[in-house]
Amino acid sequence: MAAENSNPFDLIIVGAGMYACGKGTNGYGTILPAAFEAFRRGWIKTIHIAAATKKSADLAKEKAIQLKDLTKVSPELHFYPKKDDDPHAYLCAVEKADRPCAGIISVPDNLHFEITKALIQKKIHVQVVKPLVSTADENNRLIELKNQYGIYGCVEYHKRFDESNLKLYDLIRQGALGELLHFRINYSQRKLIPTTVFRNWVETTNVFQYLGVHYVDLIQFLTDAKPLRVMSMGMKKYLSSQGIHTYDTIQTLIEWQQDEGKGCFFSSHLTGWVDPNVSTAMSDQRLEVIGTRGRYRSDQKSRGVTLVTDDHGCEEINPYFCQFFQDIDGQALRINGYGPESILQFIDDCVNITNGKKSPAELQGLRASFESSLCIAMVLEASAKSLAEGNIWICVNKSSANS
Ligand SMILES: NC(=O)c1ccc[n+]([C@@H]2O[C@H](COP(=O)([O-])OP(=O)(O)OC[C@H]3O[C@@H](n4cnc5c(N)ncnc54)[C@H](O)[C@@H]3O)[C@@H](O)[C@H]2O)c1
Repeated sequence: MAAENSNPFDLIIVGAGMYACGKGTNGYGTILPAAFEAFRRGWIKTIHIAAATKKSADLAKEKAIQLKDLTKVSPELHFYPKKDDDPHAYLCAVEKADRPCAGIISVPDNLHFEITKALIQKKIHVQVVKPLVSTADENNRLIELKNQYGIYGCVEYHKRFDESNLKLYDLIRQGALGELLHFRINYSQRKLIPTTVFRNWVETTNVFQYLGVHYVDLIQFLTDAKPLRVMSMGMKKYLSSQGIHTYDTIQTLIEWQQDEGKGCFFSSHLTGWVDPNVSTAMSDQRLEVIGTRGRYRSDQKSRGVTLVTDDHGCEEINPYFCQFFQDIDGQALRINGYGPESILQFIDDCVNITNGKKSPAELQGLRASFESSLCIAMVLEASAKSLAEGNIWICVNKSSANS
């Protein structure tokens, strides 16, 4: 980790929604607080936040003012669009930002390709929130483009930074679980996500693409396996009754092929977004791995911290994802957790690139890259095809034959 940066650079955040700034919540999202922490560490100077509407830009400004007060750091901030609504306001941020600079893209999934492409063409290193894109063709085009421009590109898959998953990473590599047989994932969120937070764009994605991808990436990360075939089944009951045309739940089976004669294993992913809004956490998530010599179970919702209040009822808090804690002097709040850590890692990597200490090609290891996202895009494509074609198995390679 960079102790300091003698040449702090500008950071552009494209998108000012829930994940970027905490829009529609009492919080501040994950990206903006991480950017404040990067500023506190002296890694970046000016922060540019580009939304598509003036209203979103104003809301981001309000959140930023509150964050300055909480964290006692005061980066210079610019918000776009400045006057009228403009889906291309991020290009004004790109023009205004000093070079070198880095960009974090957190817009609806169907805009990831276009905006990532535009930033790379302006020679800006990028981190894109998951999923990078949902087709192998777009994924391949972004890999080519970033290589052509010599740009560093990565994907914000923060579950790779969760220590409960890093423990599993080592156990699998040490062979402690024996030969892998099954992964079983349950991951669901509250109804308010599809009905309120994402109402504008919920029908352009689905719940497997929104939630399931986290664990598709994680399984690939943990095992180095390649997906062979995919089958998905979906149910439409609650959301369609509300006039929202998407699945309530999707159940997906993936067969994976490991290297070096280690054979195959299966993963099953039950994803949903119709949990009651009074559930004790936004995300309910559990992971179980069964091998020939052991079993690993990780409750990623119930982390052992429960709060009950008159105002909010019972809440199960994940203190490890993204929380504010008092700094050692008790004077200000600091952001902490595996969510901001994955963003700070990207900014730290950009510090090393801009100071000439590392090249984009050297930044591999445990990082989620555009290359590692390719098999996720293939799984998403295969899953969509399976849903459209009566829940049949779709061979991953065949489904992306034109890639
Ligand atoms: N990694 C995670 O845990 C996580 C969590 C939530 C969301 N996400 C991802 O983050 C992305 C955004 O999700 P969200 O929850 O913030 O959604 P959201 O609907 O709250 O926010 C999307 C924002 O994008 C902005 N936007 C739309 N078009 C734009 C454009 N042309 N230029 C600039 N901004 C534009 C809008 O201002 C809107 O506020 C999605 O891809 C989602 O899958 C990731």
